[in-house]
Amino acid sequence: ELGQLRIRLKCAVGICSTSGVILFIEEGCDDPVIAALNYDRYLKDIDIHVIFNSVSDPAGKDSFYFPGFVDTHIHASQYPNCGIFGNSTLLDWLDTYTFPLESSLNDENIAALTYDAVISQTLKHGTTCASYFTTIDSNSSKIMADLCKSKGQRAFIGKVCMNQHSPSYYQETIEECKDASLDLIEYILKDLNSPLIKPIITPRFAITCSSALMDSLSEVAEEFDLPIQTHLNENDSEIAFVKELFKDCHSYTDVYHKHGLLNGKTVLAHCIHLEDSEIELLKKSSAGISHCPISNSSLTSGECRVKELLNYGLKVSLGSDVSGGFTVSILENARQALLVSRHRAMSVEDPERKEECKLSVAEVLYLATMGGAKVLNLSDKIGSFDVGKEFDAQLIDLSTKGSNVSIFPWQKVTNDKIQPNGKDRIKLENIVAKWLFNGDDRNVKSVWVRGKLCHQNL
Ligand code: GUN
Ligand code: FE
Repeated sequence: ELGQLRIRLKCAVGICSTSGVILFIEEGCDDPVIAALNYDRYLKDIDIHVIFNSVSDPAGKDSFYFPGFVDTHIHASQYPNCGIFGNSTLLDWLDTYTFPLESSLNDENIAALTYDAVISQTLKHGTTCASYFTTIDSNSSKIMADLCKSKGQRAFIGKVCMNQHSPSYYQETIEECKDASLDLIEYILKDLNSPLIKPIITPRFAITCSSALMDSLSEVAEEFDLPIQTHLNENDSEIAFVKELFKDCHSYTDVYHKHGLLNGKTVLAHCIHLEDSEIELLKKSSAGISHCPISNSSLTSGECRVKELLNYGLKVSLGSDVSGGFTVSILENARQALLVSRHRAMSVEDPERKEECKLSVAEVLYLATMGGAKVLNLSDKIGSFDVGKEFDAQLIDLSTKGSNVSIFPWQKVTNDKIQPNGKDRIKLENIVAKWLFNGDDRNVKSVWVRGKLCHQNL
């Protein structure tokens, strides 16, 4: 739940080793084997994980299980450019850095190396589910889908669609785009046929998509009942250009609305400069937002009003937006989301409104998990540990060699009989806060998707 960390102590979690579904959760249990035995009579093949046990044990390691991170906006193809953006802003960044790199992935060897690296890195940082943009090329996008399947990550794969206002070397016609999109969709749904990998319709953004292209993509999305992802209201010059191109539309958001691209399965990256009418339109359509704080600071795009959007009842999640964002780490994006919200607070005069801007540790970790699950319409499957959900998890170990998180012995919770609402709970929450602010991939010990181990930091 937003704003609340649910910490379960001495908890045994039973996971079906074939389906990866969580079968039982036993809190306050001293012996996971006994917990398992109660269920074992009825169910075979249960894997048992004991979660959040050792923080309460002064002799044990500082480790706990956390739901896998969800990255709702990442350009897999841009991974080689992480950290390279100079002083550019969106439109010149696209021309200078991004389009040349993306077109170079037409070479399938380069694409395979790039995609292999980005999946390994996201898994290593605890991302169990990601919504990826690839490039306009469908063949290399198939390679991306293959790699996600073989590495076991849960993923949406979107071939980038664009037919105008980009260099001639990186553009396609409507027909080429439709053929390539259908080719990839069929490949993922029929040939790959994995419960974890889904196609997603991906018009790049309004500037690079003509009305006719957007209409045609909307039809494809409807025909195959697919989600949609794109960019919205990221940068002032971008917005001005969109308004010039689509004079009949009331706003940038209305462009997507009028072209049938705005619904409960749409994921919109950025959403920084929203007019009131646009916020209303987003609410009415149930579209989800991917907040990309590192990208927005790096490209000086602006500060998204996350807390207000949440309070208004919109679905908000986190995106790394590699390589507008310089890291695949959702933990670091959660941390930066918290800082951006405080920068917003500093720019607001009214003391009450100041407080209303601030995101808490619990809130940004919600955005990183359940927020993402809701935006991707997967909250019945992932985002938290609940019976019936699939086990997408990361084992966090704060005591690993080289860890940046320091917890002194006297800071540990030593009382075995910890009351959920007692003062020791605060200590546990502070351990989670230490992880948010100082943790990194060195603390990600193991990663599971649907109960299957996908990464181990030995
Ligand atoms: N708008 C259109 N394309 C892109 C992209 O690749 N990254 C970001 N951040 N914004 C975009
Ligand atoms: Fe992006």
